[in-house]
Amino acid sequence: MKTIVINASPRKNWNTAQLLKSAQKGAESAGSETEYIDLYDLKFTGCRSCLACKRKGAERCKCYWKDDLSPLIDRITQAQSLIIGSPIYFGEPTAQFRALLERLLFVMLSYDNYSTYFTGKVNVGLIYTMNASGAYVETLIKPMAKNMEDLFRFLNGTVKTYLSCNTTQVADYSKYSMAGFDVEKKKETREKQFPIDLEEAYKMGRELAGI
Ligand SMILES: Cc1cc2nc3c(=O)[nH]c(=O)nc-3n(C[C@H](O)[C@H](O)[C@H](O)COP(=O)(O)O)c2cc1C
Repeated sequence: MKTIVINASPRKNWNTAQLLKSAQKGAESAGSETEYIDLYDLKFTGCRSCLACKRKGAERCKCYWKDDLSPLIDRITQAQSLIIGSPIYFGEPTAQFRALLERLLFVMLSYDNYSTYFTGKVNVGLIYTMNASGAYVETLIKPMAKNMEDLFRFLNGTVKTYLSCNTTQVADYSKYSMAGFDVEKKKETREKQFPIDLEEAYKMGRELAGI
């Protein structure tokens, strides 16, 4: 039983990473072996449309493009659960998250009937962190997150999402031109809400590893 935890933020110790490390501990508390990956350390691209995975007779759910992501895709398909965290950049998860999604899910997509070739089951947890809160989250982020959940159903497991909002982006706001933020509100969110987010991430990791 293995949980793969993927940080799709370029920052290795900030909001997304902290939540993911909590989710990792949750998975470990359920007895899961875990592997933590900083996606920005890997050299890879999105799908190259080589279409080798769609060749007649090709082994299914295998990405034939050779870079740092190909072995990770193989490991994901053998895991019990997968937890990916990403900051929101311009309303979407990061470019690296998207590149991983293209590579992982395209190998599973059947162009014969648009179902999934994948016959295993991997539970998926998706954690997004963002500056936003309130109406922006309701109107823009939640519909995006719902679409993502639908895509990750190709892995046949339970898919869960957690949103961590109004995150702290820098340690000292007084050193940056960031007058658009309510710094007091950020501080309050960090002190009161972020510990709850960490706990929720832990529960997500534990639950998905145990299902
Ligand atoms: C290039 C860039 C674009 C961003 N775009 C958005 C955005 O559209 N909406 C939002 O709420 N936050 C946005 N943010 C803020 C990040 O999502 C937020 O600070 C996040 O928690 C950072 O995660 P990290 O601390 O794990 O790196 C953006 C940050 C960057 C660097």
